[in-house]
Amino acid sequence: MSKKRVLSGIQPTHDSFHLGNYLGALKQWVALQKDNDAFYCVVDLHALTVETDPKLLERRTLLSAAQLIAIGVDPKQCTLFIQSHVPAHNQLAWVLECLTGFGEAGRMTQFKDKSQKGGNDRTNVGLFTYPILQAADILLYQADFVPVGEDQRQHIELTRDLGQRFNSKYKEVFNIPQAQIIKSLAKINDLQDPTAKMSKSANSMSGVIELLDLPEVTIKKFKSSVTDTGKEVKYDEKEKAGISNLLTIHSAFSGKSIKDIESEFAGKGYGDFKTQVGEIVVAALDPIRKRTEELMGDQSELLRILKSGADKANEVASKTLADAYAALGLIKNG
Ligand code: TYM
Repeated sequence: MSKKRVLSGIQPTHDSFHLGNYLGALKQWVALQKDNDAFYCVVDLHALTVETDPKLLERRTLLSAAQLIAIGVDPKQCTLFIQSHVPAHNQLAWVLECLTGFGEAGRMTQFKDKSQKGGNDRTNVGLFTYPILQAADILLYQADFVPVGEDQRQHIELTRDLGQRFNSKYKEVFNIPQAQIIKSLAKINDLQDPTAKMSKSANSMSGVIELLDLPEVTIKKFKSSVTDTGKEVKYDEKEKAGISNLLTIHSAFSGKSIKDIESEFAGKGYGDFKTQVGEIVVAALDPIRKRTEELMGDQSELLRILKSGADKANEVASKTLADAYAALGLIKNG
């Protein structure tokens, strides 16, 4: 049986990825690269929707690639590349924009949230067309599966709709992908506001665990995490959102079931539990931070890896784009 195609992307909008990115998406990236034909990209063009100093964007793009490799994304097992190195992403995005309704794009909840926060004057058109560029990222590679967290579900639905629309209007060019979402890890919450998703755009970073935080910072963030007035370490999303979030994190790193962790902490206070979750997370993240630093020490090697990834990505993407252009009646040059 031929391998399934997997594609996913992550924005280089901050120096460090956070625990939500890691548990919701990136751990899946690593697991899926073994038995599938996986393409993973750092979506630097998407990051332009947030105004960033150019030097900082450059650094964060490389830091993102380094972190992915440090986490276990292996350029020998998958294709790792930078989105802007493959021009077909923008080219297909335009085609898909011409197939997307204005109202349809306006219904995207991430767009509604971000534009509401920024207000009309600070909302750029790129933010509006953002999910369509994401659809192009995915459809170009004929992806079967897209490993993501829950917040991306609607964007993958739009991708499926646009792929199907193109196929039925013109010609069967695109494979229709499925979101691959692991329910229990799909929404990791903020440690200070455990009913809200952990997010790079949080107002304060005190509830956001960054992969590149120093151990003492991580431990402090766990120790001061918001819980409730009760005493029992028990999973109850409604009444004990903070404890439930910590149980999810513990279980993801320790591999123990939530039930076993609950029994382990029966009769003990929240303090012990918070400290242990912090220590388990630090043990896993510390090598990632150190490996990222090492990789950043040899940027020419990083660039070489990314170039080889872009070469492979360009081959696949330009073939799909040519098929789509031909189906549309765009005349080939020469
Ligand atoms: P981004 O960069 O915001 O996030 C990267 C991945 O992390 C997941 N994630 C979470 N999962 C669980 N809990 C959380 N608190 C949490 N926060 C973030 C996201 O769901 C995502 O999988 N639009 C995408 C980037 C993108 C993309 C693509 C993804 C561009 N093109 C093509 C897949 C395929 C984004 O902004 O992800």
